[in-house]
Amino acid sequence: MLDKADKSKKSGPAIAGGPPLDFQDHLRQLEARGLVTHIDHAIDKDSELHPLVRWQFQGGLAEEQRRAFLFTNVVDGSGRRYDIPVAVGALGASPEIYAVGMGKPVADIGEAWTRAIAHPIAPVIVASAACQEVVIKGADLLKPGEGLARLPVPISTPGFDSAPYLTATLCITRDPETGVQNMGTYRAALKAQDRLGVRMSSRPGGAGGYLHWRKYQKRKQPMPCAIVIGCAPVVLFTGPQKLPIDVDEMAVAGGLAGAPIRIVKAVSVDLHVPADAEIVIEGLIDSELLEPEGPFGESHGHVALEDFNMSMRVTAITTKRKPVFVSIISQVTPSESSVMKKVAFEPMFLSHLRDQLGIRGIKRVAMHEPFTNLRKVIFLQFARGTAPTEVWRGLQGAASLRADCGKICIAVSEDIDPANADAIFWSLAYRSDPGIDMQIMPYRSAGHGPKSDKREDSTILIDATLKHDMPPLALPKQEFMERALTLWKELGLPPITPQPPWHGYSLGDWDAHYDIYARRAVEGRWAESGTETSKRRRGGLIPETPVRGVESPKKKS
Ligand SMILES: Cc1cc2nc3c(=O)[nH]c(=O)nc-3n(C[C@H](O)[C@H](O)[C@H](O)COP(=O)(O)O)c2cc1C
Repeated sequence: MLDKADKSKKSGPAIAGGPPLDFQDHLRQLEARGLVTHIDHAIDKDSELHPLVRWQFQGGLAEEQRRAFLFTNVVDGSGRRYDIPVAVGALGASPEIYAVGMGKPVADIGEAWTRAIAHPIAPVIVASAACQEVVIKGADLLKPGEGLARLPVPISTPGFDSAPYLTATLCITRDPETGVQNMGTYRAALKAQDRLGVRMSSRPGGAGGYLHWRKYQKRKQPMPCAIVIGCAPVVLFTGPQKLPIDVDEMAVAGGLAGAPIRIVKAVSVDLHVPADAEIVIEGLIDSELLEPEGPFGESHGHVALEDFNMSMRVTAITTKRKPVFVSIISQVTPSESSVMKKVAFEPMFLSHLRDQLGIRGIKRVAMHEPFTNLRKVIFLQFARGTAPTEVWRGLQGAASLRADCGKICIAVSEDIDPANADAIFWSLAYRSDPGIDMQIMPYRSAGHGPKSDKREDSTILIDATLKHDMPPLALPKQEFMERALTLWKELGLPPITPQPPWHGYSLGDWDAHYDIYARRAVEGRWAESGTETSKRRRGGLIPETPVRGVESPKKKS
């Protein structure tokens, strides 16, 4: 259960209206907003827990209906009962939940990141910390049911995953040359009561921790690592964020918090960890021997098969007296993992294009979420009339900002909703000429995805913006659709949810006299138009000859 008595005893100062600086405070704030579902029923962490929360994403619920789940009666397949509750979805089941962790409305998240990166606040070291109220190390880690076995680590993809996995991790490592710490969210498999398999991606644009590992390997030393499970969301949110390797992410978290993050020296390795964390697993990663790790259901939508990955010998586990274990729901997107990335990545891409590259006319960046997991497909929305050269600069900027993002970049006009795949296809079909508006560029990193022999991929850039005026979208005008909606309701027809675009709108190509025809038509005066057009009849033409090309062109409205 949440330790209400312990509340903030040793946590950092709470900022009025600012982000929660302790994970259990965050849970209480979610609770106050009705965003937590409590499950007190006995739930098997290995076969039931993640599949239950998974239904939030596969069950047709709207994004805003998703909740954080708090499991307070966790058991496993062998009937073992765990005294640590498990929270899933508490970091980013929905943008609203993420926003509570940031202490900001969803709309302000992008700017908050940009400001925090520009104005980091260095952490402050404290002597004693809530995260070290309980310390288990040495031979105690190997007592029956102790060590990693004490933690209620769920299986994320039962039926495919090879072990229970830590997913909501903040893996802290230190550059042995510069002394700067890096924090990354990397999966870690339970291997023994005192051993984890840790996957730090070695691809270009992959894990910062891997770059540190290479340096320890050269020195023939093991790499100290501290894996934080549960702490202030602003600190956890830096895990999936791609920041330059020499930036201290704890200071960026301070920038997000508006106050220094309290950190404490780990008990068995030379690293600093958030003082108010729930659980910290300290250890040494072998820099020579790698161990088979996987399978594990991945966010690129496939199960990652067995790879040689890092092996971490646990040297200590420290916890609060009453910690909460945190797990992230990942695998096929949308998922908590993709929501956490989307809310931070999209505004940062927009800021890069608009503020750094100065692209004129860029309105919005939308990363495609279902199945593709944001990185591969990026939509850029441009204002009408944007110069094609700016559209192409934008496409190139989006494709090159991050090594693993932007394999497929598509520019659309403002009226096309990037979340509406049908509208995108409509735009591709009628607003782009593949021979001219499509460019394929070789030499892209294969990025995040199922393993293949091919190490390199390509990039496709498509300009599907409106290049010239076009006739209106062929739906009744807004006033008629609104009147019909009222009628629909009065007639007691089945409830409907209007799906944009639900009314016609101008795309620039229209003549004033068409308005006269349309008005007469709805007033029952269509024959007046017929009388006029009969006087304009001509011979020597074939059907479908545009009137404009024959009569003098009409002025556009
Ligand atoms: C839930 C979740 C799980 C992730 N798992 C891994 C992983 O196992 N290995 C990895 O290299 N990156 C993983 N990532 C992506 C990294 O967190 C991301 O690339 C981040 O930028 C890494 O931080 P770094 O640049 O400081 O290394 C994961 C992200 C999320 C949200």
